[in-house]
Amino acid sequence: EDAEKSGYDHYMLKEIHEQPKALRQCLRGRIDDLDGAVDLEDLADLDHEGPVQFVACGTSYHAALFGAERLREAGVRAQAFLASEYASDRVPIDDETLVVGVTQSGETADTLRALREAARAGATTLAVTNTVASSAARECDHTLYIRAGPEIGVAATKTFASQQLALALLAFTLGDGPTREELEALRDIPGQVRTVLETTDARAVAEEYVDADAYFFIGRGYHYPVALEGALKMKEITYRHAEGFAAGELKHGPLALVTEDTPVFAVVTGDGETARKTIGNVKEVEARDAPVVAITDGESDVTRYADHVLEIPAVGDLGGSVLANVQLQLVAYWVANLLGRSIDKPRNLAKSVTVE
Ligand code: G6P
Repeated sequence: EDAEKSGYDHYMLKEIHEQPKALRQCLRGRIDDLDGAVDLEDLADLDHEGPVQFVACGTSYHAALFGAERLREAGVRAQAFLASEYASDRVPIDDETLVVGVTQSGETADTLRALREAARAGATTLAVTNTVASSAARECDHTLYIRAGPEIGVAATKTFASQQLALALLAFTLGDGPTREELEALRDIPGQVRTVLETTDARAVAEEYVDADAYFFIGRGYHYPVALEGALKMKEITYRHAEGFAAGELKHGPLALVTEDTPVFAVVTGDGETARKTIGNVKEVEARDAPVVAITDGESDVTRYADHVLEIPAVGDLGGSVLANVQLQLVAYWVANLLGRSIDKPRNLAKSVTVE
């Protein structure tokens, strides 16, 4: 088993470091330089113009939230649903609807159930999965493989990044195609993840806050799912209390939880409207003496209000959300490591949950 970890103490750390490779694999052959287009051979016979509904669980649900936002930005009507709530949500489905199951394993019972119900209601179904010949891949009308390679650690890491990239490709296929700059930006992401892995201060931040009462994560837009995912990773492997919030929601309740013993991790990229608003929320927690860790590209003045900075290259909000997530994976990993947790097999959790 140690040999398979290639010198890393845990599969999770190995898989975090495999992300540049996983992302390159996800992109390989899917960007057509001559045409300046995204070319998804997997979806050659998918011709869809109607609304899109994502169904997913856990980490994959966070990727689905990100994917839905990316699709809407590309001009497609898209929404993300928790697979386990999909039936009770009574979401209207018809034969114009594409229902996309985002599932790393392709075997999650809640997600399969939602896909089956959607198919019965006449929808076209698409599996976005890492697992060839999984139930989701076999049962859906179409399959888009994320090509992350096998993931052993129960806490999903590289598959989340690969889902983000695959869903960005899907958005360019179903909605407005990419500009040359957007294609370049996609292609640069794997190398920028490598830069983050080589320069990260996540371990020092983890050492500083290993004894915190709770950990909060905030973000807006593409960074909101990243805040949710940062908190989920922290809960899963450290067993500590962690919550992710839409930055604007802090003042509507969660601010009451904020103290000098609750670090707040804020994801801020660029210096536009979104960044300015999140910085406003950062000031609110700073005024309550909470330690602030900014995950940022340094384009705004958020660093002025931060006790620690986890730097990422300046690549815009979309790529920035992939890079910021890598920093948060590492913070969770190092907190769990310092606490001596069972990182690859956290208590009570399974890699793939095949009951509803
Ligand atoms: C389990 C795992 C999570 C995962 C979720 C969905 O709960 O512990 O890490 O995000 O299932 O898995 P899927 O295979 O559908 O992406």
